[in-house]
Amino acid sequence: MGRVFVIGLSCLFTLASCTGDQGAQGPSGQDGADGMDGADGADGIDGQGAELGYVGSDTCGTAECHARQYASWTNTGHPYKIVPKQAILDGTGYPEWIRTQIHGEEFAVDADFFDAGQGGAQVLSVNANTFPNGGWDDVSYVIGGYGWKARFIGVDGYIITGSSNTADPDDDDKVQYNPPLEVDAFGSAAYPDVAVSSSTYHTDEMKPYNCGSCHTTGWVPDTDAATDNDLSDNQDGLEGIHGTWEEPGVGCEGCHGPGAGHADNPYEVATQWDASASCSSCHIRADVYEIDTSGGFIRHHEQFEEVIQGKHAALLCTGCHDAHEPVRYGDTYVALDDTADDPNPNFRNVHGVRVECASCHFNQEESYAVWAANYPGMGGVTCEQCHMPHATKSAVKAGTFYGDTSTHLAGINTWVDPVNPDNSLSTTGASPANPYISLDWACGSCHSDEAEADPNTLYDWALTALSDNGGVHGNGPMLLP
Ligand code: HEC
Ligand code: HEC
Ligand code: HEC
Ligand code: HEC
Ligand code: HEC
Ligand code: HEC
Ligand code: HEC
Repeated sequence: MGRVFVIGLSCLFTLASCTGDQGAQGPSGQDGADGMDGADGADGIDGQGAELGYVGSDTCGTAECHARQYASWTNTGHPYKIVPKQAILDGTGYPEWIRTQIHGEEFAVDADFFDAGQGGAQVLSVNANTFPNGGWDDVSYVIGGYGWKARFIGVDGYIITGSSNTADPDDDDKVQYNPPLEVDAFGSAAYPDVAVSSSTYHTDEMKPYNCGSCHTTGWVPDTDAATDNDLSDNQDGLEGIHGTWEEPGVGCEGCHGPGAGHADNPYEVATQWDASASCSSCHIRADVYEIDTSGGFIRHHEQFEEVIQGKHAALLCTGCHDAHEPVRYGDTYVALDDTADDPNPNFRNVHGVRVECASCHFNQEESYAVWAANYPGMGGVTCEQCHMPHATKSAVKAGTFYGDTSTHLAGINTWVDPVNPDNSLSTTGASPANPYISLDWACGSCHSDEAEADPNTLYDWALTALSDNGGVHGNGPMLLP
């Protein structure tokens, strides 16, 4: 106000100068009071969200945002690492096609699931007087149950392990559920499919659930859980769960990082995607330079170790994979989604491997077709069936040369004679594994009668076949002099 007054005065003087003699300059007015505070500025851009935390996959997947990625993600294994018991009883724990095509009736709700004995709908064999004789009442969460196996968390938070301390010492509790394994080979010699089965798991041990860094989103481990007498840092306050999660299973934010900042301000705040680290932080076992084995098979979740020890180290996982689409049941799911009454035809999903081998190795596709034409039956064999055989075992095997998971080793070594177990994974198995596939695995998963009879005979037979007719890729096998 004061300044306005001063300016007004000076105008008056200016006017006066036009109309009469100029008088003496008056004294300066007093300084005016400070003006009012301005309005608040616009909100600043939120940070990357790590401090702001997680929002959960349901928020990311809303209709106006990422419904397409959400729909395909629900068909992958990633969401189903920790499934609340109640969701299974309600029939919402897994996608419908998993419940109807992969799981038997018994996994859904049948209370006999945990009862003693085998046969009928009873899958798990649990001694009558040991845990969990209350059936589903004794379970809080299921671990997995999508692809290879399921384990169960008790109401105290410990993983159910079972006990050998009963009248019959041979009858250890079989507390792990293994869905059926379909053997994808073909031909008269192929191994048969494996029916639904059960296995023991750390019998007589107390197994806390400390698996959350790879199986949940936003896991905060409680490293001193055994001694701190504080259940506030255990999920649901359960003593056996040594940490907390933001979301059970690998949600959107399990790969993209905490997303609250992005959800608040989607056009300004990007989510993270660290291509070099994100798959490998979970699809790894221990030392990346050692491919661990057990019982003649590569152990599961070692895809990163396998890829970086071969020439595909030049590729990222996402060089071949679409992270949002299912692989293990890619074909099953595509087939299901192709039906005429699919409610969302535009959401039709594709196999989670989006690049064919031949799009990079087109020469080998041609040479293989030339060679295979000499052997009726071999023409339909795919690149993966020789180059990514089931040399890995997570839960069950169909035979000596057929586990339940594809190896990512790809390179086939034709000069090692697999009868020496140090050269192969067969029978005794070397630990760690060699960074290549030997011929007993490359050919033996289908030519299983020869392979089971004698890997050495199989080797000689395979070498002859690979030398004949110009060799499988037009070169003949590589042999050391
Ligand atoms: C297993 C890790 C993983 C999970 C889980 C995941 N994403 Fe992604 N996402 C990726 C990767 C990797 C990319 C980069 C594109 C590529 O290479 O496919 C990506 C890309 C995207 C993109 C960019 C467009 C596109 O489709 O490529 C969107 C949007 C997206 N993700 C949303 C989501 C949402 C929503 C979820 C949860 C429903 C989710 N993602 C779950 C790994 C993941
Ligand atoms: C270093 C990361 C990591 C840790 C730690 C880990 N897992 Fe896993 N687990 C995986 C990955 C990756 C897969 C799937 C890929 C594979 O099996 O090759 C998997 C698969 C599984 C499956 C099969 C899921 C299904 O649907 O068939 C079960 C069950 C399982 N893990 C249980 C456990 C338990 C119990 C623990 C803790 C005692 C644990 N895992 C610790 C990474 C991990
Ligand atoms: C936070 C840990 C984690 C990260 C990160 C992760 N995975 Fe997984 N992945 C798992 C676990 C655990 C399973 C087993 C899920 C199950 O089957 O129940 C799994 C299963 C899978 C499967 C087999 C199941 C299916 O849906 O076909 C594929 C393929 C896969 N992951 C690919 C990827 C790729 C590619 C990336 C990186 C873009 C990635 N994963 C990142 C933990 C992770
Ligand atoms: C995106 C391109 C790309 C795709 C897709 C791809 N590869 Fe490769 N592959 C490469 C590159 C690059 C090399 C290394 C070439 C070299 O060193 O000469 C390689 C090397 C190989 C080798 C030689 C390995 C060795 O140790 O000698 C085999 C075998 C192989 N690939 C098989 C496959 C199979 C089987 C598939 C499909 C599952 C596949 N590749 C998909 C790019 C690819
Ligand atoms: C019947 C089993 C079999 C099938 C099917 C097969 N390969 Fe091979 N592949 C081999 C063997 C064995 C070698 C080792 C070298 C040799 O004997 O020629 C090899 C070697 C390779 C190599 C290394 C470079 C070279 O030419 O030797 C590449 C790359 C390759 N295969 C890619 C493929 C691709 C891509 C496909 C599918 C189009 C495929 N293979 C199908 C058995 C197979
Ligand atoms: C050269 C291409 C290629 C690369 C690179 C690659 N994958 Fe795969 N992956 C495949 C193919 C092809 C399959 C399916 C094999 C089959 O159908 O038998 C597969 C299957 C899988 C499976 C399911 C295994 C099963 O038996 O169901 C997992 C998990 C997986 N990949 C994880 C990864 C991770 C993690 C990486 C990076 C460390 C990776 N992959 C890199 C081609 C690739
Ligand atoms: C995915 C399954 C599969 C794989 C892997 C496979 N084959 Fe075959 N092969 C077949 C089928 C099916 C036939 C035709 C039926 C038969 O004769 O058993 C066949 C036939 C043959 C024949 C002609 C019949 C005979 O017994 O002499 C030869 C030679 C042969 N395969 C060599 C190989 C070699 C070498 C490898 C490994 C580098 C291999 N195959 C890997 C499925 C496979």
